[in-house]
Amino acid sequence: MDLIALASQLRTRWMAHPLVYVPRLTSTQTLTARLAESGWPEGTTALAEEQTAGRGRLGRSWWTPPGQALLCSILLRPAIPPRQAQQLTMVAAVAAAEAIEATCDTPTAIKWPNDLYVQGRKVGGILTETRLSIRGDVLEQAVVGIGINVAVDFSSQPELQHTAISLHAAAGREVSRIALFTHLAERLERRYEELLAGRSCQDIWSSRLLWIGEEVKVITPEETVVGIAVGVEETTGALLVRTSDGIKTFQAGDVVLHRQH
Ligand code: BTN
Repeated sequence: MDLIALASQLRTRWMAHPLVYVPRLTSTQTLTARLAESGWPEGTTALAEEQTAGRGRLGRSWWTPPGQALLCSILLRPAIPPRQAQQLTMVAAVAAAEAIEATCDTPTAIKWPNDLYVQGRKVGGILTETRLSIRGDVLEQAVVGIGINVAVDFSSQPELQHTAISLHAAAGREVSRIALFTHLAERLERRYEELLAGRSCQDIWSSRLLWIGEEVKVITPEETVVGIAVGVEETTGALLVRTSDGIKTFQAGDVVLHRQH
């Protein structure tokens, strides 16, 4: 990545300052958490071309070929109560969706809780890892990781070719990772400052959610539940699903559209 071009296009006051660029590392999450422990400031961002141990949600791995995705992690020190942790993921998901649209004009939805969807396929995801204060009353640190497929070719990967997509394919043209990153940093700075000022982006996040009103299957380690996704809970963003046993609330899990055949 051309870092001089990136620096000249970055219009943030504190987000992505300092920016730590490492071509190849285990995970930008791990690096950013280490920098956090060493006292680096809020806004510190790690950016990589390739991860050898990239992490996804729910303990999954996240791999993309070198140089073909936007891979970054941002250090935040939000000092908000732990029950609002999901608000950080919402801020990141909304900022990422806005950045994608600003960069390549491709309408972007969010699959609960934090997958970025374009043309019905996953284009990216967000992983938020937090640490509580010693007293446990506030989030002392959060590392927000964002991975977006920019030029990954899924055509030779049978298990992903119908479920994943890249911005190049969606937009039908090359998409600049630098433009995507600078838009992302700007949106994230603005949305995060709004959150700290008491203005949650929950309404915007939920208006982008896929499959509200549709029959879905929610898969968690404990159970698989089928029902109508009726909405999300205020503040926590938990998914509300109407089942034959009443409304069930999910804080985490995988959602798929439940199609009757
Ligand atoms: C998911 O969809 O499960 C979340 C994927 C998050 C991937 C990003 S890539 C940059 C950052 N570093 C990681 O190891 N994971 C996140």
